[in-house]
Amino acid sequence: MIPHSRPSLGKEEEEAALRIIRSGMLAQGDEVAHLEQSLAERLQAKHVIAVNSGSAALHLALLVLTLPPKANVLLPSYVCTALLNAIRLTGNTPILADIDPKTFQLVASTTEHDAIQAVLAPHMFGHTVDIDTLRTFDTPLIEDCALALGARYKGKPVGGFGDLAICSFYATKVICGGEGGAIATSSDTLAEHLRDLRDYDGRKDTKLRYNYKLTDLQAALINAQLDKLDAFLQRRLNLGKVYAAGLSQTDAVLPFFKEGEFPFRYVITHPKPASELITAFESRGVSVRNPVFYPLHNLLKLDDASYPHTTQTHKHAISIPLYPDLSDIEVDHILQVAQELL
Ligand SMILES: Cc1ncc(COP(=O)(O)O)c(C=O)c1O
Repeated sequence: MIPHSRPSLGKEEEEAALRIIRSGMLAQGDEVAHLEQSLAERLQAKHVIAVNSGSAALHLALLVLTLPPKANVLLPSYVCTALLNAIRLTGNTPILADIDPKTFQLVASTTEHDAIQAVLAPHMFGHTVDIDTLRTFDTPLIEDCALALGARYKGKPVGGFGDLAICSFYATKVICGGEGGAIATSSDTLAEHLRDLRDYDGRKDTKLRYNYKLTDLQAALINAQLDKLDAFLQRRLNLGKVYAAGLSQTDAVLPFFKEGEFPFRYVITHPKPASELITAFESRGVSVRNPVFYPLHNLLKLDDASYPHTTQTHKHAISIPLYPDLSDIEVDHILQVAQELL
């Protein structure tokens, strides 16, 4: 079975892990500091604070914004529950938006402006969210780059537009360390607050703090992966072109990547139900997935009619394997199966 996702780990990661194990220093240290500096340069942000997951990053990002109680936070319905969890953990109120079915990005309705007190905007699947429109909300903006690290919006890296931006280094992400996360900001005040909350130890007060620290072992892996990010993006772009050419004669609607975007997931929509396609691909040795497990409006028991594009996309979209480590033989097999089924 060709897996839906697979990390690209090589000699560099192996050597990095060995180096840390031999050093005897596993906890947050020089490797984490190095990661924070390199990522800040890459995202063109002044500060990066590494944490141990994207979820921890989302939690801290919402905490340091010090929003009014139960603040209305805008997010798309078509995203994983990590975003919803962070909103609930901080006592805020999720306000769900529908998506653009072509780009899978949150579409903010201008009528919502007055009610919204913060925006949590993921760049989905390597595409970029409409930052310019979200900026007209005049509320704090958190960019979620978990699925788009390395993408550019109007020539600038995603992650440098929001008041805060978060990343995830979970095993299936663009670059990975098993688990891991980071928050970027150009605000000195927010950065100081984030660093304070990340670690509870050695304090002379009882303020509520967390243990959200990343280990040097994970940071060493992520550093090795960050060195390869541009090569990963190029390989993903090339594979995207191979799929676009190979699937052009099928009934599938193929994704379109604007300049600066790249296929983190290759999400196609098709007249047949996604559930049927997933089973058919699996029986031919290719693992394909619903790009989002379950829309948030369904989990929250909200009406499908208010989220028509999310509902349709969930029923008809599948993500087919696309990652740097795919071999040419695997790519040929995926294309052959896709051409038959789509
Ligand atoms: C858009 C998005 N943000 C945040 C997260 C959470 O990241 P983590 O799994 O590192 O907690 C995910 C997880 O897949 C995600 O898809």
